[in-house]
Amino acid sequence: MKLTKLKIGKNETPGNLLLAPMADVTNLAFRLLCRQNGADLTYTEMISVDALLNENQKSLLKGLSSPEDRPFGVQLVGSSPEKLREAALFIEDEYRPEIIDVNMGCPAKRITGTGCGSALLNSRTLVYEIISELTEVLKTPVTAKIRIFENDEKTLEIARLIEKAGASALTVHGRKARQMYSGSSDLKAIRSVKKELSIPVIANGDIRDEESAEVTLDFTGCDGLMIGRAAMGNPFVFKRIRHYLETGEKLEVDRQAQQLEDFKNYIALLEKYNLCSSTNLRMHAHWFTKGLCGSRQLREKINILKDGKAIIELIKNSSKEELGLTRLN
Ligand SMILES: Cc1cc2nc3c(=O)[nH]c(=O)nc-3n(C[C@H](O)[C@H](O)[C@H](O)COP(=O)(O)O)c2cc1C
Repeated sequence: MKLTKLKIGKNETPGNLLLAPMADVTNLAFRLLCRQNGADLTYTEMISVDALLNENQKSLLKGLSSPEDRPFGVQLVGSSPEKLREAALFIEDEYRPEIIDVNMGCPAKRITGTGCGSALLNSRTLVYEIISELTEVLKTPVTAKIRIFENDEKTLEIARLIEKAGASALTVHGRKARQMYSGSSDLKAIRSVKKELSIPVIANGDIRDEESAEVTLDFTGCDGLMIGRAAMGNPFVFKRIRHYLETGEKLEVDRQAQQLEDFKNYIALLEKYNLCSSTNLRMHAHWFTKGLCGSRQLREKINILKDGKAIIELIKNSSKEELGLTRLN
Protein backbone atom coordinates (compact mmCIF):
# COMPACT_ATOMS: atom_id res chain seq x y z
CA MET A 1 0.00 0.00 0.00
CA LYS A 2 1.87 3.05 -1.26
CA LEU A 3 -1.00 5.49 -1.32
CA THR A 4 -0.68 7.61 1.81
CA LYS A 5 -2.52 10.50 3.40
CA LEU A 6 -1.25 13.96 2.58
CA LYS A 7 -1.38 16.84 5.01
CA ILE A 8 -0.89 20.36 3.68
CA GLY A 9 -1.31 22.91 6.44
CA LYS A 10 -4.58 22.15 8.16
CA ASN A 11 -5.95 20.04 5.29
CA GLU A 12 -5.57 16.32 5.08
CA THR A 13 -6.52 14.24 2.03
CA PRO A 14 -7.04 10.47 2.09
CA GLY A 15 -4.54 9.95 -0.70
CA ASN A 16 -1.62 11.76 -2.26
CA LEU A 17 -2.53 12.03 -5.94
CA LEU A 18 -2.79 15.58 -7.24
CA LEU A 19 -3.97 17.01 -10.54
CA ALA A 20 -1.47 19.61 -11.83
CA PRO A 21 -2.58 23.14 -12.67
CA MET A 22 -2.83 23.34 -16.47
CA ALA A 23 -3.90 26.37 -18.48
CA ASP A 24 -6.91 25.65 -20.73
CA VAL A 25 -7.23 22.18 -19.23
CA THR A 26 -8.01 22.14 -15.51
CA ASN A 27 -11.31 23.99 -15.55
CA LEU A 28 -13.99 23.10 -13.00
CA ALA A 29 -15.52 20.33 -15.14
CA PHE A 30 -12.20 18.65 -15.78
CA ARG A 31 -11.20 18.86 -12.12
CA LEU A 32 -14.50 17.27 -11.07
CA LEU A 33 -13.96 14.48 -13.56
CA CYS A 34 -10.45 13.81 -12.23
CA ARG A 35 -11.82 13.88 -8.71
CA GLN A 36 -14.47 11.29 -9.63
CA ASN A 37 -11.61 9.19 -10.94
CA GLY A 38 -9.60 9.41 -7.74
CA ALA A 39 -7.60 12.67 -7.70
CA ASP A 40 -7.29 13.77 -4.07
CA LEU A 41 -6.51 17.41 -4.68
CA THR A 42 -6.84 19.48 -7.83
CA TYR A 43 -5.58 22.91 -8.87
CA THR A 44 -7.12 25.56 -11.07
CA GLU A 45 -5.11 26.68 -14.05
CA MET A 46 -2.90 29.68 -13.28
CA ILE A 47 -4.85 32.89 -12.81
CA SER A 48 -3.08 36.13 -13.55
CA VAL A 49 -3.30 38.55 -10.64
CA ASP A 50 -3.46 41.45 -13.09
CA ALA A 51 -6.55 39.98 -14.72
CA LEU A 52 -8.04 39.14 -11.36
CA LEU A 53 -7.64 42.66 -10.03
CA ASN A 54 -9.11 44.20 -13.14
CA GLU A 55 -12.83 44.73 -12.51
CA ASN A 56 -13.68 44.15 -16.18
CA GLN A 57 -11.98 40.80 -16.19
CA LYS A 58 -13.43 39.40 -12.98
CA SER A 59 -16.03 37.69 -15.17
CA LEU A 60 -13.18 35.36 -16.14
CA LEU A 61 -13.70 33.78 -12.74
CA LYS A 62 -17.21 32.68 -13.64
CA GLY A 63 -17.50 28.97 -12.83
CA LEU A 64 -14.16 28.90 -11.03
CA SER A 65 -15.35 26.37 -8.47
CA SER A 66 -18.39 24.72 -6.89
CA PRO A 67 -19.22 23.07 -3.55
CA GLU A 68 -18.39 19.59 -4.94
CA ASP A 69 -14.97 20.80 -6.04
CA ARG A 70 -13.19 20.10 -2.75
CA PRO A 71 -10.42 20.16 -1.79
CA PHE A 72 -9.00 22.47 -4.43
CA GLY A 73 -6.11 24.85 -4.84
CA VAL A 74 -6.14 28.13 -6.73
CA GLN A 75 -2.92 28.93 -8.52
CA LEU A 76 -1.93 32.56 -8.92
CA VAL A 77 0.64 33.95 -11.30
CA GLY A 78 2.18 37.36 -10.72
CA SER A 79 5.37 39.07 -9.62
CA SER A 80 4.25 41.95 -7.45
CA PRO A 81 3.93 40.94 -3.76
CA GLU A 82 1.27 43.62 -3.25
CA LYS A 83 -0.88 42.46 -6.17
CA LEU A 84 -0.45 38.83 -5.23
CA ARG A 85 -1.54 39.65 -1.70
CA GLU A 86 -4.60 41.57 -2.84
CA ALA A 87 -5.59 38.87 -5.33
CA ALA A 88 -5.06 36.07 -2.80
CA LEU A 89 -7.18 37.84 -0.19
CA PHE A 90 -9.94 38.25 -2.75
CA ILE A 91 -9.77 34.55 -3.70
CA GLU A 92 -9.72 33.46 -0.06
CA ASP A 93 -12.72 35.55 0.74
CA GLU A 94 -14.73 34.69 -2.33
CA TYR A 95 -13.92 31.00 -2.94
CA ARG A 96 -12.37 29.64 0.28
CA PRO A 97 -10.00 27.23 -1.47
CA GLU A 98 -8.01 24.75 0.62
CA ILE A 99 -4.75 26.00 -0.89
CA ILE A 100 -3.39 29.08 -2.61
CA ASP A 101 -0.43 28.23 -4.81
CA VAL A 102 2.07 30.55 -6.46
CA ASN A 103 3.31 29.70 -9.92
CA MET A 104 7.11 29.86 -9.85
CA GLY A 105 7.70 27.41 -12.65
CA CYS A 106 6.02 28.45 -15.89
CA PRO A 107 8.73 28.89 -18.55
CA ALA A 108 6.49 30.38 -21.28
CA LYS A 109 7.84 33.65 -22.66
CA ARG A 110 4.54 35.50 -22.25
CA ILE A 111 4.75 34.74 -18.52
CA THR A 112 8.50 35.06 -17.83
CA GLY A 113 8.60 38.23 -19.97
CA THR A 114 6.67 40.02 -17.22
CA GLY A 115 8.92 38.62 -14.49
CA CYS A 116 6.41 35.91 -13.49
CA GLY A 117 6.49 32.09 -13.38
CA SER A 118 10.00 30.63 -13.49
CA ALA A 119 11.48 34.15 -13.86
CA LEU A 120 10.59 34.76 -10.21
CA LEU A 121 13.21 32.20 -9.21
CA ASN A 122 15.92 34.64 -10.33
CA SER A 123 15.22 36.81 -7.32
CA ARG A 124 15.54 35.15 -3.93
CA THR A 125 14.37 38.35 -2.24
CA LEU A 126 11.19 38.47 -4.25
CA VAL A 127 10.43 34.78 -3.71
CA TYR A 128 10.87 35.22 0.04
CA GLU A 129 8.83 38.41 0.11
CA ILE A 130 5.93 36.90 -1.86
CA ILE A 131 5.62 33.74 0.22
CA SER A 132 6.13 35.42 3.58
CA GLU A 133 3.60 38.18 2.82
CA LEU A 134 1.01 35.67 1.66
CA THR A 135 1.46 33.37 4.64
CA GLU A 136 1.21 36.36 6.94
CA VAL A 137 -2.09 37.70 5.64
CA LEU A 138 -3.90 34.50 4.60
CA LYS A 139 -5.64 31.88 6.70
CA THR A 140 -5.33 29.52 3.72
CA PRO A 141 -2.17 27.40 3.45
CA VAL A 142 0.20 28.75 0.81
CA THR A 143 2.19 26.49 -1.51
CA ALA A 144 4.57 27.08 -4.40
CA LYS A 145 5.36 25.19 -7.57
CA ILE A 146 8.89 25.45 -8.94
CA ARG A 147 11.17 24.03 -11.59
CA ILE A 148 14.74 22.97 -10.80
CA PHE A 149 17.91 25.01 -11.49
CA GLU A 150 20.94 23.99 -13.55
CA ASN A 151 22.78 23.74 -10.26
CA ASP A 152 21.40 21.49 -7.52
CA GLU A 153 22.57 23.72 -4.69
CA LYS A 154 20.57 26.64 -6.13
CA THR A 155 17.44 24.47 -6.23
CA LEU A 156 17.97 23.57 -2.58
CA GLU A 157 18.56 27.22 -1.64
CA ILE A 158 15.27 28.30 -3.19
CA ALA A 159 13.43 25.34 -1.66
CA ARG A 160 14.80 26.18 1.82
CA LEU A 161 13.87 29.81 1.34
CA ILE A 162 10.28 28.95 0.38
CA GLU A 163 9.98 26.73 3.45
CA LYS A 164 11.48 29.40 5.70
CA ALA A 165 9.04 31.98 4.33
CA GLY A 166 6.18 29.83 5.63
CA ALA A 167 4.95 27.73 2.70
CA SER A 168 2.93 24.65 3.69
CA ALA A 169 4.18 22.49 0.81
CA LEU A 170 6.33 22.67 -2.29
CA THR A 171 5.79 21.06 -5.69
CA VAL A 172 8.89 20.40 -7.76
CA HIS A 173 8.73 19.77 -11.50
CA GLY A 174 12.06 18.08 -12.19
CA ARG A 175 12.90 20.05 -15.32
CA LYS A 176 14.86 23.26 -15.77
CA ALA A 177 12.97 26.21 -17.24
CA ARG A 178 15.10 26.21 -20.40
CA GLN A 179 14.06 22.61 -21.10
CA MET A 180 10.41 23.57 -21.43
CA TYR A 181 9.03 20.00 -21.82
CA SER A 182 12.04 18.31 -23.42
CA GLY A 183 14.24 15.71 -21.78
CA SER A 184 12.96 13.99 -18.70
CA SER A 185 12.11 14.98 -15.17
CA ASP A 186 15.14 14.71 -12.87
CA LEU A 187 14.09 12.50 -9.98
CA LYS A 188 17.46 12.90 -8.25
CA ALA A 189 16.98 16.66 -8.00
CA ILE A 190 13.46 16.16 -6.62
CA ARG A 191 14.78 13.63 -4.10
CA SER A 192 17.40 16.13 -2.87
CA VAL A 193 14.69 18.71 -2.22
CA LYS A 194 12.57 16.16 -0.37
CA LYS A 195 15.54 15.23 1.83
CA GLU A 196 16.22 18.87 2.59
CA LEU A 197 12.75 20.06 3.65
CA SER A 198 10.39 19.30 6.51
CA ILE A 199 7.23 20.49 4.72
CA PRO A 200 5.55 18.07 2.28
CA VAL A 201 7.22 17.91 -1.13
CA ILE A 202 5.17 16.93 -4.17
CA ALA A 203 6.95 15.32 -7.11
CA ASN A 204 5.91 16.38 -10.61
CA GLY A 205 6.99 15.48 -14.12
CA ASP A 206 6.46 12.50 -16.42
CA ILE A 207 4.15 10.51 -14.14
CA ARG A 208 2.03 8.83 -16.76
CA ASP A 209 1.16 5.33 -15.55
CA GLU A 210 1.38 2.83 -12.72
CA GLU A 211 5.11 2.17 -13.11
CA SER A 212 6.23 5.80 -13.35
CA ALA A 213 4.08 6.66 -10.32
CA GLU A 214 5.63 3.89 -8.25
CA VAL A 215 9.19 4.69 -9.33
CA THR A 216 8.72 8.40 -8.59
CA LEU A 217 7.32 7.72 -5.12
CA ASP A 218 9.94 5.11 -4.23
CA PHE A 219 12.91 6.99 -5.63
CA THR A 220 12.15 10.50 -4.37
CA GLY A 221 10.42 9.58 -1.10
CA CYS A 222 8.06 12.49 -1.83
CA ASP A 223 4.80 13.01 0.03
CA GLY A 224 2.63 13.27 -3.07
CA LEU A 225 2.51 12.87 -6.84
CA MET A 226 1.25 15.57 -9.17
CA ILE A 227 0.02 14.43 -12.57
CA GLY A 228 -0.34 16.77 -15.54
CA ARG A 229 -0.25 15.80 -19.20
CA ALA A 230 -1.10 12.14 -18.62
CA ALA A 231 -4.51 13.23 -17.34
CA MET A 232 -5.37 15.29 -20.44
CA GLY A 233 -8.25 13.44 -22.07
CA ASN A 234 -7.48 10.60 -19.70
CA PRO A 235 -8.76 11.30 -16.16
CA PHE A 236 -8.95 7.54 -15.71
CA VAL A 237 -5.19 7.61 -15.13
CA PHE A 238 -5.97 8.56 -11.52
CA LYS A 239 -8.12 5.45 -11.03
CA ARG A 240 -5.42 3.25 -12.50
CA ILE A 241 -2.59 4.68 -10.46
CA ARG A 242 -4.66 4.80 -7.30
CA HIS A 243 -5.70 1.17 -7.66
CA TYR A 244 -2.12 0.10 -8.30
CA LEU A 245 -0.69 1.99 -5.34
CA GLU A 246 -3.40 0.55 -3.11
CA THR A 247 -3.31 -3.06 -4.25
CA GLY A 248 -0.21 -3.65 -6.35
CA GLU A 249 -2.54 -4.85 -9.12
CA LYS A 250 -3.34 -3.22 -12.46
CA LEU A 251 -6.89 -2.43 -13.50
CA GLU A 252 -8.04 -4.07 -16.71
CA VAL A 253 -10.13 -1.68 -18.81
CA ASP A 254 -11.63 -1.34 -22.24
CA ARG A 255 -9.81 1.87 -23.07
CA GLN A 256 -12.00 2.56 -26.10
CA ALA A 257 -15.18 2.50 -24.02
CA GLN A 258 -13.62 4.24 -21.04
CA GLN A 259 -12.29 7.28 -22.87
CA LEU A 260 -15.51 7.87 -24.75
CA GLU A 261 -17.52 7.51 -21.54
CA ASP A 262 -15.18 9.99 -19.81
CA PHE A 263 -15.58 12.43 -22.70
CA LYS A 264 -19.37 12.20 -22.47
CA ASN A 265 -19.16 12.81 -18.71
CA TYR A 266 -16.86 15.76 -19.32
CA ILE A 267 -19.36 17.31 -21.73
CA ALA A 268 -22.19 16.77 -19.23
CA LEU A 269 -20.17 18.60 -16.57
CA LEU A 270 -19.29 21.44 -18.96
CA GLU A 271 -23.00 21.85 -19.69
CA LYS A 272 -23.99 21.62 -16.03
CA TYR A 273 -21.58 24.40 -15.05
CA ASN A 274 -22.13 26.51 -18.16
CA LEU A 275 -18.54 26.20 -19.29
CA CYS A 276 -19.00 25.15 -22.91
CA SER A 277 -18.36 28.56 -24.41
CA SER A 278 -15.14 29.13 -22.46
CA THR A 279 -13.64 25.73 -23.30
CA ASN A 280 -11.70 24.75 -26.39
CA LEU A 281 -13.71 21.62 -27.08
CA ARG A 282 -11.87 20.72 -30.25
CA MET A 283 -8.64 20.43 -28.27
CA HIS A 284 -10.25 18.37 -25.53
CA ALA A 285 -11.89 16.15 -28.18
CA HIS A 286 -8.46 15.43 -29.61
CA TRP A 287 -7.08 14.49 -26.21
CA PHE A 288 -10.06 12.34 -25.28
CA THR A 289 -9.81 10.34 -28.52
CA LYS A 290 -6.01 10.14 -28.69
CA GLY A 291 -4.67 6.65 -29.23
CA LEU A 292 -8.06 5.08 -29.88
CA CYS A 293 -8.70 2.93 -32.94
CA GLY A 294 -10.67 4.98 -35.45
CA SER A 295 -9.76 8.24 -33.73
CA ARG A 296 -8.14 9.76 -36.80
CA GLN A 297 -11.37 9.58 -38.78
CA LEU A 298 -13.30 10.89 -35.80
CA ARG A 299 -10.90 13.81 -35.43
CA GLU A 300 -11.27 14.62 -39.11
CA LYS A 301 -15.02 14.65 -38.61
CA ILE A 302 -14.67 16.92 -35.59
CA ASN A 303 -12.30 19.27 -37.41
CA ILE A 304 -14.92 20.17 -39.99
CA LEU A 305 -17.63 20.83 -37.44
CA LYS A 306 -18.48 24.48 -37.05
CA ASP A 307 -18.21 24.96 -33.28
CA GLY A 308 -18.21 23.47 -29.80
CA LYS A 309 -21.97 23.04 -29.87
CA ALA A 310 -21.77 20.83 -32.94
CA ILE A 311 -19.01 18.75 -31.33
CA ILE A 312 -21.18 18.29 -28.24
CA GLU A 313 -24.14 17.17 -30.34
CA LEU A 314 -22.02 14.66 -32.24
CA ILE A 315 -20.47 13.10 -29.13
CA LYS A 316 -23.63 13.13 -27.04
CA ASN A 317 -25.84 11.55 -29.66
CA SER A 318 -23.53 8.91 -31.08
CA SER A 319 -22.56 5.48 -29.87
CA LYS A 320 -18.95 4.40 -30.14
CA GLU A 321 -19.91 2.33 -33.22
CA GLU A 322 -21.46 5.39 -34.88
CA LEU A 323 -18.32 7.36 -34.08
CA GLY A 324 -16.23 4.66 -35.72
CA LEU A 325 -14.54 3.64 -32.48
CA THR A 326 -15.39 0.00 -32.81
CA ARG A 327 -12.25 -2.03 -32.49
CA LEU A 328 -10.33 -2.57 -29.30
CA ASN A 329 -6.72 -1.42 -29.09
C1 LIG B 1 -1.24 22.57 -21.40
C2 LIG B 1 -0.43 22.81 -20.15
C3 LIG B 1 -0.74 23.89 -19.34
C4 LIG B 1 -0.01 24.11 -18.16
N1 LIG B 1 -0.37 25.16 -17.36
C5 LIG B 1 0.25 25.31 -16.15
C6 LIG B 1 -0.21 26.28 -15.22
O1 LIG B 1 -1.20 26.99 -15.45
N2 LIG B 1 0.48 26.38 -14.04
C7 LIG B 1 1.56 25.58 -13.74
O2 LIG B 1 2.14 25.69 -12.66
N3 LIG B 1 1.99 24.65 -14.61
C8 LIG B 1 1.36 24.48 -15.78
N4 LIG B 1 1.75 23.48 -16.61
C9 LIG B 1 2.81 22.54 -16.18
C10 LIG B 1 2.20 21.33 -15.44
O3 LIG B 1 1.52 21.73 -14.27
C11 LIG B 1 3.29 20.32 -15.06
O4 LIG B 1 4.20 20.93 -14.20
C12 LIG B 1 4.04 19.79 -16.28
O5 LIG B 1 3.17 19.47 -17.34
C13 LIG B 1 4.88 18.54 -15.91
O6 LIG B 1 4.06 17.51 -15.42
P1 LIG B 1 3.58 16.28 -16.35
O7 LIG B 1 4.82 15.63 -16.90
O8 LIG B 1 2.82 15.38 -15.43
O9 LIG B 1 2.77 16.86 -17.45
C14 LIG B 1 1.06 23.26 -17.81
C15 LIG B 1 1.37 22.18 -18.64
C16 LIG B 1 0.64 21.95 -19.78
C17 LIG B 1 0.99 20.77 -20.65
